[in-house]
Amino acid sequence: MMKLSLITILLTLIILVKCSSSKFEKQKLKVSLYYETLCPFCMTFINDQLYPGYQKLGDYLDLELIPYGNARRKKTDNGWTIECQHGPKECVYNKIEACGMARNVDQNAVISFVHCIEKGIKTDDSNYKRITKKCGPLLNVNTADIIKCAEGQEGDELMVANGVKTDAVQPSIDGVPTVLYNNYYNDTLEEYNDNFLTIACKLLDDEPAACMHLDNEIW
Ligand SMILES: *[C@@H]1O[C@H](CO)[C@@H](O)[C@H](O)[C@H]1NC(C)=O
Repeated sequence: MMKLSLITILLTLIILVKCSSSKFEKQKLKVSLYYETLCPFCMTFINDQLYPGYQKLGDYLDLELIPYGNARRKKTDNGWTIECQHGPKECVYNKIEACGMARNVDQNAVISFVHCIEKGIKTDDSNYKRITKKCGPLLNVNTADIIKCAEGQEGDELMVANGVKTDAVQPSIDGVPTVLYNNYYNDTLEEYNDNFLTIACKLLDDEPAACMHLDNEIW
């Protein structure tokens, strides 16, 4: 009898905790970034806006990063030819970032990795292996594997998938970076991409503590 009621109490507690935690689940803002790795405004957005903003609001954000941008793709007899706006080097870095994301989907790891790569590119983009070796550990995956993916067919396939996704955005993307909030493109918000934290806080109704005391009167 004693035992049974103890179990009942425990079960009730578990159910209560479960219910209350889902009741207080954080609202999340989905942020989809369409970009290419060597475009200067993309680098600035990632390094100076998205990354620092994520450090403050990470728990409230659902990040989606889509490196491809203004690249073009063409099917060939034995695969794909992909051309990138800033040349072959950009294609390699696009694929490195996409391959990294294909290996580890944890968004804390992904944003740290992408930020690290973009910072590396900004300093000296001449050696992608060196940069990948430096940043790879942030993903907790084998760096050689990321490079192999980026240099091979898998990298091309990831680019094709990102291309299809990029082409599907409505209204169609006419420049990078393009940011969608909750899958939705809004011109007005785009103008304030140099104020990511403010936009995110506005869309999150200022719920996160990091949003307090922020000057939100930008529109
Ligand atoms: C875009 O965002 C601004 C700021 O939140 C808002 O006032 C406006 O209504 C939005 N526009 C559309 C078309 O949703």
